[in-house]
Amino acid sequence: MSNLTFPILNLLADGQFHSGEALAQRFKVTRATIWNAIQHAESLGVEVFSVRGRGYKLPQAIDLLDEKVVLVALGEQRAWFKLQILDEVASTNTYLMQQKGVAHATCVAAHIQTKGKGRRGRAWVSRLGASLTFSLLWRFSCGAAGLSGLSLAVGVALIRAFNSLGVNNVQLKWPNDVLVIDNNGHGKKLAGILIELQGDLEGPSAAVIGVGVNLNLPKNVLQSIDQPAIDLVSASQQKIVQSVLLGTILKHLAEVLSSFESRGFIGLQAEWISYHAYQNQQVKMLLPNGTAQIGVVKNVADDGILLVETALGLQRFSAGEISLRGLNAEAIA
Ligand code: ATP
Ligand code: BTN
Repeated sequence: MSNLTFPILNLLADGQFHSGEALAQRFKVTRATIWNAIQHAESLGVEVFSVRGRGYKLPQAIDLLDEKVVLVALGEQRAWFKLQILDEVASTNTYLMQQKGVAHATCVAAHIQTKGKGRRGRAWVSRLGASLTFSLLWRFSCGAAGLSGLSLAVGVALIRAFNSLGVNNVQLKWPNDVLVIDNNGHGKKLAGILIELQGDLEGPSAAVIGVGVNLNLPKNVLQSIDQPAIDLVSASQQKIVQSVLLGTILKHLAEVLSSFESRGFIGLQAEWISYHAYQNQQVKMLLPNGTAQIGVVKNVADDGILLVETALGLQRFSAGEISLRGLNAEAIA
């Protein structure tokens, strides 16, 4: 661990060469100390070119989070949030789950997560300047039992945020993945949501809402993910500034979470269904025992339960029970 790593990466973010000597002078350390800090960056998955006589350089310029820009994008709703940007953390979800007495609407975003989590112990892949990773702690007066459908509600906020930034080809896969569907009907995952709950079933409770969005991942990283994945640059052919995306998502989360608090998922149900990638389509359900079942998605109920018509009749699935795949994606899932 080197506390110079991120100050150096902030300079290298311009994508230009910076000589070891200039960096050493700037931070008043030896060139060996600079080299150690660069080694630490590489251990975090950051690729740094080192060229004799020229110095250090990132493969391209990268876009790091800037608190001021996030607050501008949040607009009037900035007063709702407490924002913290960390350089390096295992997982923003784990960080917020482990802190005591975290204030309502605290958002922790990270430049790098070293142990990003998906659902059920799976890993979430991210890279410096190429991924948005953050978690928001939201307190509810109701108990955890009243929060069914919350993760679907968060999906609605993400779609609204993407649409407001001109990214319109995004859809939801139950319970809460954000997908881009290609011309062949194959879904590619753009963003994921991980919700962890604190508190009693009766209340009050708190949710740590973790969101990961792929911004501009190197091809080899996208290909290393064990299901089809895509990033925002390929999905939208435009460059969206990471801080603007974070501020915009938080703004929409504030609206959606307020609606969820007063009316529950029912107030968002019709909108969620309008975004559903596989509504009335054949899907394959991967069960925890390793078997698969085929069915047609009939609906999502007002508590977030998925209703699927199968050979055994209409079945109800709650989030966490199954993994859903579009049948078109069977060949690549
Ligand atoms: P579900 O079980 O709801 O169908 P899922 O199979 O997508 O969802 P999750 O636990 O929600 O699984 O997400 C973790 C999975 O997401 C990983 O196992 C991996 O397949 C995929 N993944 C990991 N990192 C990324 C990423 N950056 N972009 C897209 N997909 C990713
Ligand atoms: C999924 O699709 O399984 C959910 C992925 C959620 C990833 C985000 S990144 C920020 C937050 N911290 C984590 O460790 N996970 C979530």
